[in-house]
Amino acid sequence: MSNRNFHDGKREHAEALSNSHRAAEYDSIDVTPVNAVIGAAVTGVDMTRELPTAQVEDLNRALADHNVLFFRDQPELTAEQQIAFGRRFGPLHIHPNAAKDEKHPELFVIHTHGESVVNNGSDWHTDVSSDPEPPMATILQIHRTPPLGGDTIFANMYAAFDALSEGMKVYLSGLKALHDPERAHRGRFAEKGVDDTGRKFTNAIHPVVRTHPVSGRQALYVNEVFTQQIMDIPGPESDAILTYLFQHMARQEFQVRFQWQDNAVAFWDNRCTQHLAMWDYWPAERYGHRVTVQGDAPFYRAN
Ligand code: SIN
Repeated sequence: MSNRNFHDGKREHAEALSNSHRAAEYDSIDVTPVNAVIGAAVTGVDMTRELPTAQVEDLNRALADHNVLFFRDQPELTAEQQIAFGRRFGPLHIHPNAAKDEKHPELFVIHTHGESVVNNGSDWHTDVSSDPEPPMATILQIHRTPPLGGDTIFANMYAAFDALSEGMKVYLSGLKALHDPERAHRGRFAEKGVDDTGRKFTNAIHPVVRTHPVSGRQALYVNEVFTQQIMDIPGPESDAILTYLFQHMARQEFQVRFQWQDNAVAFWDNRCTQHLAMWDYWPAERYGHRVTVQGDAPFYRAN
């Protein structure tokens, strides 16, 4: 049996990757890819100070090139410092359903401990894709890591799209899907003091294949946390296609696994990645702060 489509997809992705690596020259930061498919380590940034415009531009380029950036040399940021850093990339998004800190509604606290019954982000997702304009990027600092475990796995959705057969790409490219937070969010923040009884959550319909507004590349844009059904096809067909896509996007060759240390920061592009936070450290504690940068309504444009 021929593997031609599979290798075509890999070739397409490898070419795009090597083009972006070749073009990548950064004057104000040091960027080291951590694997062949997704992720780079960045040094030379001080997140406690106002970020110079040259670094904002370089970080935006590095994010477009590598999709998730890792910083291992930051001190613990105050809420104000992390919010100020995030705002250099655009206005911040406020989570529609989670508990809010009155003083800093943009800050999403990540905290799992021995009494927790849920862990944030334990299944594959891209952040709040149920919003009509989901956040384009997320900046997470973990202040306290468990002694072992608590890694986050990131997957490249350009690579996942590229590896599909040509027929499947064509089929998916015209489709839209419902992203609904009901299953993921209802009652989910109760232990953080949120009573959402009777509240109607916002949902959204997005293209199954999303064109990245910066790179122009196509990325698979369905995830098992929020995507409930593909529109305008029979339910069983939608279920079968989504089941296949959720398995496909989770293939290890699209991934990087980030092992945190205290105060490490990850900065990811929600438009072309998915992630999953491992909860393999119970009853140990893991604590951090996340801010998200507002994004645009996802669209599909044929190329
Ligand atoms: C998230 O899904 O934003 C949380 C990721 C993590 O805690 O590693």
